[in-house]
Order: sequence, then C-alpha cells, then structure tokens
Amino acid sequence: MKFLELLNQTGLIAAHRGARSIAPENTLIALKRSLGKCDFIEIDVQLSRDGIAVVMHDDTLERTTNVAEIDAFKSRKPYRVCDFTIDELRTLDYGSWFYEDENHKEPLLTLRDALEFIKENNIFLNIEIKDMYGIVSDEAAVETVVKEIKESDTHKLVLISSFRHEYLKLAKEKLPDAPTAALVEGKHPPKLLEYLRELKVDAYNFNNELVDKQTIKMLREAGFFVGVYTVNDVKRAKELFSMGVNCIFSDSLEKEEVGVL
Ligand code: G3P
Ligand code: MG
Repeated sequence: MKFLELLNQTGLIAAHRGARSIAPENTLIALKRSLGKCDFIEIDVQLSRDGIAVVMHDDTLERTTNVAEIDAFKSRKPYRVCDFTIDELRTLDYGSWFYEDENHKEPLLTLRDALEFIKENNIFLNIEIKDMYGIVSDEAAVETVVKEIKESDTHKLVLISSFRHEYLKLAKEKLPDAPTAALVEGKHPPKLLEYLRELKVDAYNFNNELVDKQTIKMLREAGFFVGVYTVNDVKRAKELFSMGVNCIFSDSLEKEEVGVL
C-alpha cells in the first residue's frame, strides 16, 4: 500500500515524534517502540550547518541533548541546530535527558537512517520539514529532503508536511507521487479550500483547539484528509473520529491510552 491510499482511511493514529511518551522523541528507539502501535510515525526534520537532514523538533539543542554539558560547545549558545555540523551533532547524546540516566545514551537520528528504518519495517512516515526560512533557501530545504527520499526509494511510504507552505508546492513539483500536508496552528487561512487546492496538498493537519465540526465536514467533502494534533485523550480521540477526522497525532500509544483505539 502507498501512503496516498492510507489517506483514504479514518481512525488513524500517528506516533508524534515517535513513541515519545516512552522513548526520547525523534530517535531510532522512539521509532522502534512505536511499531505495532500506530498507523504511521511522524518526525521533524531540519538541516545541519553543512546541509544534512537531521531528525529534531526544536530549533535549538538544549532540551533534547546534553549540549550544555559539553565544554567544547560552551560558547555556542543558544545552540541552534543549524549552527552545528553533522560531525558535531553526532558527538551529542539524545537519550539521557529523557531517562535522566547517564546509561541511556541515544545517537543522533538522520533522515537517511529514519528512511532506511521505515523501508526495512514497511511502516509509513510523515516527514515534517521544520520552517527554516532565513537559514536556508526553500529550494535547498526541500531538495535535501526529496533527494533522501529518492535515494532510499521510499516515496510510496512518506507524507511530507510543513508549517511553511512554500515547501509543499516545491515538494509536489519535485516528487508528485508523494502526498503533502499543510500544517496550521491557531488560525485557518482565509478561503481555506481554495487555498489548499492552490497548494495542491492532499491533507490538512491542524491543532486540536482549532477543531470545529463544520470545517471538518467541509474539508472531508472536498476530498482532503484531515489530521489533528496533539491528542492524548481517548475520549477526545473518539469524538474527533466521529466528526470525520482521519488521523490524530498522539504521544500516548500505550495500553489504556489512545493506542488502544
Ligand atoms: O505534524 C503535527 C505536529 O507534529 C506539529 O507540531 O510542533 O509537534 O511539530 P510539532
Ligand atoms: Mg512535528
């Protein structure tokens, strides 16, 4: 099956940044631990200083790595991901902040490794390209991601999304086979359906607080896949699915949590 066909389904659960309630987000172990508990995995991708696509949510390294403890990097505040080379990023630990235990080190996850993982495990992946406006050109941001998808031959397994909608148009031009999703937080763009058609996206994903029944009905009738983030409550997940939402992004994939749906 292709990701595009998955978009016809409802009641889907996406592992938000991997299984991030039980493993450090956006790491290989988080991807591994979400297998069998979700319909697809969502990760965040941005570029290192030397242009390698790495899997990380925040613009800076402090929350999810040990960068602040490394003497050699003391002068590098605010530790922006885009200021560190791939070799420097590889020296950091992405696990012990989560486990609060020095023995639980986790390595950097690159997009290349993530794509290799989904190919081996035949699982779908939503690649969210972080907004890198002012850091790299739109062309460079999208081309780097598309190149990795092409080289790994995973275009049938991926969905490309972004809050920076310029990326989505470019992605569609470069990789017409791969579906795209516009991400929005807080406010819908005016003339929503026209706007999404102009972007040529397949899906529209927005935050839970922005949900209303009429908008979901309108989007579904117009043929758009609808995703809502971040939903960790079973009752709310059921409500959203009954409104016609196709997919929720959740941190809670364990028993008694959203993952049981
Ligand atoms: O793609 C849904 C969700 O991941 C968007 O928000 O900030 O967690 O990347 P964020
Ligand atoms: Mg994300």
